[in-house]
Amino acid sequence: MASRSCLTIILAAGEGTRMKSSMSKVLHEIAGLPLVGHVVKAVQGANDTKNDLAVVVGRGAADVQKAVGKISETARFYEQTERLGTAHAVLAAREALAEAHDDVLVVFGDTPLIEETSLRAARGKLAEGADIVVMGFRPENPTGYGRLVEEDGKLIAIVEEKDATDEQRKITFCNGGLMALSGKYALQLISAVKNDNSKGEYYLTDVVKLAHAQGLNVIAIDVPVENVIGINNRAELAEAEALWQTRKRRDVMLSGVTLIAPETVFFAHDTLIEADVLIEPNVFFGPKVTVESGAVIHAFSHIEGAHIGANTSVGPFARLRPGAKLAEKSKVGNFCEVKNADIGAGAKVNHLSYIGDATVGADTNIGAGVITCNYDGYNKFKTIIGSNAFVGSNSALVAPLTIGNGVYVASGSVITDEVPENALALGRARQVNKEGRAEILREKYKSIKASKNK
Ligand code: UD1
Ligand code: MG
Repeated sequence: MASRSCLTIILAAGEGTRMKSSMSKVLHEIAGLPLVGHVVKAVQGANDTKNDLAVVVGRGAADVQKAVGKISETARFYEQTERLGTAHAVLAAREALAEAHDDVLVVFGDTPLIEETSLRAARGKLAEGADIVVMGFRPENPTGYGRLVEEDGKLIAIVEEKDATDEQRKITFCNGGLMALSGKYALQLISAVKNDNSKGEYYLTDVVKLAHAQGLNVIAIDVPVENVIGINNRAELAEAEALWQTRKRRDVMLSGVTLIAPETVFFAHDTLIEADVLIEPNVFFGPKVTVESGAVIHAFSHIEGAHIGANTSVGPFARLRPGAKLAEKSKVGNFCEVKNADIGAGAKVNHLSYIGDATVGADTNIGAGVITCNYDGYNKFKTIIGSNAFVGSNSALVAPLTIGNGVYVASGSVITDEVPENALALGRARQVNKEGRAEILREKYKSIKASKNK
């Protein structure tokens, strides 16, 4: 199969009015990636070598082109200006279809759970000599789906629900909508489709009966139901998200990661976690997170765009934002936020701190409530803290600022100037004790209260 060339056409011209959204349907996200992005990734996974991608978009769908362009540099886009049916949509990519591809795959942009294995299975059947392979499935409730009419193991027609006889409606084997066609016949067959049905649309599914009439070899394969789940509203979007998360949690656990309560941990499409990581309940991963072996992520942490090094400890209740990089054996503890900052090996940011636009050297200790003041309302500035330093609790580090190796910053300091190596920096008012003054104050306040109560 590796040597067979393939053109995949993704139909993404749907308006998706039931999403009740100003955004194109296929741009709604699952695990931080647009629906159409999931489809593109599955398609890429099913193609070992030559992989031509054509995406049929609706009128003015520049945002869809942009989203696909981020994942595929070579995708070509075709506009379907009038929505006249799935065969009509495929023909928008006529130019690509006319090229000599061995295989042509037609998939829908709103079926995000399609798996590489199903696409490979369909292409495998083409390689074995089938001319058309339809991806069928057996839904609990077949209402609304096209029914697969088979005879002697061959598929002879797909009948849309609206055009089906009562007898045909009893068929439970349904059209998932995705199809693989031999490149030799694809254009000829799809061009021959007519719109002689109750909806007056050009149905891609009609290629089955056309091919059958020409004596071609048409079959259906049975793919898992979730592979062909199409998203039409936000309730279905959430159901698909749940299925995706269930799949991912299982993969992650089978690869050696411990999830104490898997149903409460949410991953992004690109989360990478090494074996022997422990993740406590209620942890959320946004896109672009990598976690190295031995890390422990404690409960209720929110992590995105971060690298978590080996044998680190994060949370509970930690927030790691984009650009947070934790070197090995470092610790970011409860109620801390780290953004665009390198935390050195063995360094500790344990309680209630904000470290943003900063580097913290190896084995440095950041006390409770330390804040890097990185923003003046207009610009961001960097704080550089050396290794083996100790920043006392409740200190404000006003950037731009450099704090040398081995420095001590006294608690409660506001540090605005560079601190040289091994210095003690005190940036706070000196303490004054006034002997006996507390008793005088108490008397004074007592008499004020008494005069009010008269
Ligand atoms: C289609 C199948 C049906 C199958 C079902 C599975 C046809 C005729 N019917 O029905 O057999 O059981 O999917 O979900 O194929 N699209 C365009 N342009 C168009 C029309 C559709 O781009 O002019 C795109 C849609 O955005 C969508 C896909 O094609 O991604 C399928 O269209 P849809 O209207 O959802 O078809 P169904 O009625 O669901
Ligand atoms: Mg549909």
